Amino acid sequence: MNLLKSRRSVFCKDMDPGRPLDPSALSLLLEAASWAPSHGRTDPWSFVVFQSPQALEALAHVSVSVLRREEGPRAAADAQEEFAPGKRWANAACLIAVCMRRRPRCCTPGGAARFNPEWEEVAAVACAVQNMHLMATALPGGVCGYWSSWYESVRDAPEMRVLLGLSEGDRCLGFFVVGHCDRVGEFRASRDAPSCHQWP
Ligand SMILES: Cc1cc2nc3c(=O)[nH]c(=O)nc-3n(C[C@H](O)[C@H](O)[C@H](O)COP(=O)(O)O)c2cc1C
Repeated sequence: MNLLKSRRSVFCKDMDPGRPLDPSALSLLLEAASWAPSHGRTDPWSFVVFQSPQALEALAHVSVSVLRREEGPRAAADAQEEFAPGKRWANAACLIAVCMRRRPRCCTPGGAARFNPEWEEVAAVACAVQNMHLMATALPGGVCGYWSSWYESVRDAPEMRVLLGLSEGDRCLGFFVVGHCDRVGEFRASRDAPSCHQWP
């Protein structure tokens, strides 16, 4: 319960810039994600890590050009600014694209592939992200992060799908933004009592 309650979404403005993510921390985040449940072990989670300046540049290029086309020059300029050194995304140590990849549940020899309904696969990916977030909370060194939905019009744009290597039926579900912050313990949060009643 302590771990669950101390997990916080830490946004870019509170992340310390210039602190690269330790490779062993990154592999623990990904390993934690892979321990999520899925119906029939389809393991539909898949991640693409953007960490190097070149990777960030490629992500910026795709995001900004889709925004320019879909939402106009103002939205594109705003996003371009968010990728600039010292600005929003530059504060993060890495941006992990959260993807859902469709995989068949089982195939009998010669039989048709059976797929879970999409909602089950999206739910399994959400479990994986929560595992990753809890792992970040448990790691030393102030590793933190949050799940960003990313720019609405960019997430499933054709250029983004190519960048992430998505096939038909696969989805981009935003980004898990990872950084460092030594003040997470100071961020207060609360929850209402769970919505639940005994029937009848
Ligand atoms: C699917 C999903 C998408 C989210 N997208 C965003 C987002 O685009 N921008 C944002 O500021 N927070 C986003 N969040 C994080 C929430 O703002 C955050 O979880 C909420 O404020 C509760 O804070 P906590 O995680 O510290 O408990 C998202 C969370 C989830 C689960």
